[in-house]
Amino acid sequence: MAKSIRLERLRLGVCYYPEHWPERMWEDDFRRMREMNLSVIRVGEFAWSIFEPEEGRFQFGLFDRALDLAYKHGLQVIMGTPTATPPAWLTHRYPETLNVSQQGVVYRHGARRHYNYSSPKYRELSARIVRRLAERYGRHPAVIGWQIDNELNCEIDVFYSEADHAAFRSWLKAKYGSLEALNRAWGTVFWNQTYTEWEQVHLTRPTVSDSPNPHQALDEKRFISDNAISFAKLQADIIRELAPDHWVTTNGVFGHLDSHAMTDALLDFMSYDSYPQFASIFPDDGDEPLLLERAWSLNLAGVRSISPNFCVMEQQSGPGGWVNRIEMPAPRPGQMRLWTYQSILHGADMLLFFRWRTATVGTEIYWHGINDWHNRPNRRVREAEQIGRELASIGGAIAGTKYAAEVAIIRDYDNLWDGELDRWHGPLSRMSVRSWFKRLQYRHIPADVVYLRKSTTLEDLKPYKVLIYPHPAILTDETGRLLARYVEQGGRIVFGARTGYKNEHGHCAMRPLPGPAAELCGVTVEDFTLVAGTVQAPLLRWNGEAEQPSMRAEGFNDILQVNDPAVKVEAYYASDYYAGKPALTVRKAGKGEAWYFGAAFSEQAADRMIDRLGIRSPAADWAELPAGVEFGIRSSGDTDYAFLLNYGAEAVKVNVLRPAGDLLEGGSVQGELLVPPYGVKILARRKI
Ligand code: GAL
Repeated sequence: MAKSIRLERLRLGVCYYPEHWPERMWEDDFRRMREMNLSVIRVGEFAWSIFEPEEGRFQFGLFDRALDLAYKHGLQVIMGTPTATPPAWLTHRYPETLNVSQQGVVYRHGARRHYNYSSPKYRELSARIVRRLAERYGRHPAVIGWQIDNELNCEIDVFYSEADHAAFRSWLKAKYGSLEALNRAWGTVFWNQTYTEWEQVHLTRPTVSDSPNPHQALDEKRFISDNAISFAKLQADIIRELAPDHWVTTNGVFGHLDSHAMTDALLDFMSYDSYPQFASIFPDDGDEPLLLERAWSLNLAGVRSISPNFCVMEQQSGPGGWVNRIEMPAPRPGQMRLWTYQSILHGADMLLFFRWRTATVGTEIYWHGINDWHNRPNRRVREAEQIGRELASIGGAIAGTKYAAEVAIIRDYDNLWDGELDRWHGPLSRMSVRSWFKRLQYRHIPADVVYLRKSTTLEDLKPYKVLIYPHPAILTDETGRLLARYVEQGGRIVFGARTGYKNEHGHCAMRPLPGPAAELCGVTVEDFTLVAGTVQAPLLRWNGEAEQPSMRAEGFNDILQVNDPAVKVEAYYASDYYAGKPALTVRKAGKGEAWYFGAAFSEQAADRMIDRLGIRSPAADWAELPAGVEFGIRSSGDTDYAFLLNYGAEAVKVNVLRPAGDLLEGGSVQGELLVPPYGVKILARRKI
């Protein structure tokens, strides 16, 4: 059962750093927060040296006063544990706690996240500060929950200190039991890599051509994830012991960390930090302006797969920038509000703006909060006020409702991590996921992201009519069987090129591709080619379509052989030496269908497949919408709330097809409705 935040009403708050401001300002800050309907603050996550100015000397006066005052003003508090920024006295006295690059460069004091998870000393001192904080604030009337550390694995997600090498060795001993088993799993027979003593075993180190053993590289990422989780668990266990009535969460989803496993192991629910402008200022290649910050919705869908209702611990509320630059434009009037509703549509029930006031010192003097340095009323404060008013009025209806989707894009950690070193299957997956996501977005077909895990059951998959699993290079027989059962009972699954050629160690399987999916799909791959260099993507001819082929099969081509009479060929390659061979097939199995596409999914290919699969948009029952509007539904079971989010700078007209309540403005709407620039509409309808 996925773990969600459980609230009766939507909650709004803000990240606050009492240690950054003169104490005389706190009262005014807290009063204004309450006037703006902000009711939660997060504090403390970078304040270790305030709590413990020298080793073993603790002082809590500043936060005692801040929390008492917050309580007086009716604010609730999320306490951050301060382990993302070890104090200077700590890293100076215990340099073994620092993180080290693969090349051996030690990361020094000055930024953040410069520690490693393995150092026994760092664990000891982290446990002690967390214990002291939990003893102090575990029963404070203002505190409601805890955020562990800050953004585990953000900024850096690899660790090569001596302590990490040693911890990796212990992890491998527990996993494999013997050096023989390790040698087999890592295929060390190749290039004479066989280990004869455990001391010879390391995390990957610099290698000629930057080409480490691929099986070792995959285990390294699994280890980093387990190690981060055990570091977080150390803290969570202490908090649960001393603050049994509080919830425990952490913020952000980053590399080399199985956030699903972490949530299962130690959190009450996942939290996320939502900065949608990262999507628009660093667009993926070829992204047209239409997607804009809406590309961020894919990330939010990933968070929802961990916790269907989650907290946004940091919601972007100003232009962003670091150290020496502003790198994001100011949110235009309305955009802060739009992005807040984007988070809410995708499942957020509690949101805190980052941050109350822009810092006047440090690395983030250009990362803007709601209030500017001058601390006088400004446009962003007014927009936050409006959001506060609106959530106070609609928060009871929306809290706890769930995003509704019948289509899901499948992911799994092994393929994500293996696809980093495996430089072509990673990018292939990114391209395909992107194409599907965009086409589904533009056609107003809500989609979830589902992570396949060892614990995933048929019940988890059954709610979806269609699953898209673009390029699972690693596919175990067990997962193959689960997906076959999904299809048998009526589901439809779509695979792309290079499915199923590796086992869980990343070894290539000695059997025809697509390995564990071959029987389900009723095809095998008789030949294949990368599409690159002098090889041009071949044309595709769609079965039953008379038109001249113009679409191409991009990225990679699996040339398919049909092995089962239940297989129908949906498209053929129409050029190159394999012209006339099947490129896309569908096999009916039980009540469902298994689709295999021999290439990567371009947007055009995904679009055509949406037609051929007959996937229908639920928006058809609500409104005629332009592609630039994101559509999604949060449903309570008896009432549906359809969100219309306009990411564009121009107002758009939509045509509401059946009478619906206008949740934000009141009354009911039908027919033409104007969604202003960066505007939001929420239509409400009881289910029939
Ligand atoms: C987040 C982080 C915050 C702040 C913010 C803006 O990643 O958790 O502490 O740094 O970004 O840069």
